[in-house]
Amino acid sequence: MKEEDNPSSIPGERPATVRVLFIGDIVGVGALAMVVRMMPTLKAKYSSDFIIANGENVADGKSLTKKQAAELFGAGVQVITSGNHVWDRWDARELLSNDRRVLRPANYPRENAGSGLHIGETADGIKIGVLNLQGRTYMQTIDCPFRVSDWALDKISEFAQVVIVDMHAEATAEKQTMARYLDGKVSAVLGTHTHVQTADAQILPHGTAFISDVGMSGPYESVIGMKIEIAVRRFLNQTPYKYDMASEGIRIAGVSLTIDVASGAALEIEPFMFPNFERSRTAEPNGGAIEETEIALEQPEEGVPSTLEPGSIDG
Ligand SMILES: [Fe+2]
Repeated sequence: MKEEDNPSSIPGERPATVRVLFIGDIVGVGALAMVVRMMPTLKAKYSSDFIIANGENVADGKSLTKKQAAELFGAGVQVITSGNHVWDRWDARELLSNDRRVLRPANYPRENAGSGLHIGETADGIKIGVLNLQGRTYMQTIDCPFRVSDWALDKISEFAQVVIVDMHAEATAEKQTMARYLDGKVSAVLGTHTHVQTADAQILPHGTAFISDVGMSGPYESVIGMKIEIAVRRFLNQTPYKYDMASEGIRIAGVSLTIDVASGAALEIEPFMFPNFERSRTAEPNGGAIEETEIALEQPEEGVPSTLEPGSIDG
């Protein structure tokens, strides 16, 4: 948080709170370009001091390249988290080995390239621990994310009070369980992987911010980023079809967190979707059918209310 936005901070002293922006799974190069383009706006809107993005799907849904990681870092992202798809490109192993700011889930067997935790720092010198974990329900049966979180937090606690966990998992229950397991031990547990933002953003009783899924930064004219016709064929025919990326309707999903620096407790979690979904139909997709409906509502049959006033429905 900038000092002018933070009345409790004294010039020259560290601010009492820090703001962390987390960008949900970036799917495809179109979304990468939009994230890079919109970053100054998002950073200003949320007064972000530290930015994390999940980048496991940037390269056509499969992992990310060194160049794509550099684009994100150039735009202001400080740490890139990932998940199961990070292994889909062989050269990602080199990136994971050479750049400690690019994470893979910490609970993959340790013989794999890279690391699942990183300590970053804001411009004000506040240390931010980032831990990447992956669930095991309906996913690879890797090491236990709960036990690995104990090990990782032991390491991180020497350096940082503020800790953000990217819990990359399929099952909502596993993400919720991790959040409850770590409540009071970390600043936030943020779910990724399922690509649909959930409506359960909250601060848990012991001060950990949580959301089951931050949502996808990617093309929403799709099925979780995949072309709709491919998804329909896969479900109808029950056989594999080549994953083909969609490209239309790109939105950025994420959360902004406000965290107390001294305790590491979350004070606020604010999810966002940019641009928002259309929740009513404003166009006329079928030759004026909407207009007819509007006319019908203006001229109700006798006894039928044209609008639903409070108390207009019994019971
Ligand atoms: Fe994933």
